[in-house]
Amino acid sequence: MGVAGPVTDEQLTMLHTSLSSSRHLLQLINDVLDISKIQAGKLGLYIEEDVNLNDEIKAVIDMAEPLLQKQNAMLEQPIRFIQDIDHDLPLTACDRRRIRQVLLNLLSNAIKFTEQGSITLSAKKKEKEFIFAVMDTGPGIPQEMQARIFEPFVQATDDIKHTQGTGLGLPISRSLVEAHGGELWVESKMGEGTTFFFTLPFRPPIPQ
Ligand SMILES: Nc1ncnc2c1ncn2[C@@H]1O[C@H](COP(=O)(O)OP(=O)(O)OP(=O)(O)O)[C@@H](O)[C@H]1O
Ligand SMILES: [Mg+2]
Repeated sequence: MGVAGPVTDEQLTMLHTSLSSSRHLLQLINDVLDISKIQAGKLGLYIEEDVNLNDEIKAVIDMAEPLLQKQNAMLEQPIRFIQDIDHDLPLTACDRRRIRQVLLNLLSNAIKFTEQGSITLSAKKKEKEFIFAVMDTGPGIPQEMQARIFEPFVQATDDIKHTQGTGLGLPISRSLVEAHGGELWVESKMGEGTTFFFTLPFRPPIPQ
């Protein structure tokens, strides 16, 4: 039953396709807007005090879960998703929407490129910063591309299956992390996998 009355199965499929196209388009528009703002030096952060990173991580995992399910449906052996997350990360000041965006970008890349093995998300507090890592057992990124993938619109492979994206996720993510005072980098070995790391400075609550 639709909002305006009953719909047939065929119409339902069409509505799903239409919804997913709209979401895709919106994502594209948002990415292009983000990269334009970054290039114009106009990307501002919306910093909130006392952000609970464990809640943000959980929200991102919930968003990534359907992507993983979709990928697994096409594989003989499902990808294992491993969480290695400190459970009481202290509250910190950050732009939580942007941190979520970075994590989701990295996780969706790992899901998109990995066809066997596992994906591990880790989040730890170390001295004055948080360290996040998204590790996969995918194809790896050639050494000569490891710096270039942080340039807008650059993709490491030209095979049709993996060029669906736009090549904006990583440059946007790196700029968002750097705007917070952190760093984002990659370590990868062909045939073994890829790990993206990023740091986020710990900004404790301001004493009242
Ligand atoms: N986990 C990974 N394993 C292998 N290659 C990767 C991985 N993450 C990124 N890459 C390579 O880096 C390129 C750039 O990544 P980026 O996230 O910027 O763009 P995209 O995923 O292709 O498109 P978009 O994020 O705009 O939808 C990818 O196209 C891919 O070639
Ligand atoms: Mg991407």
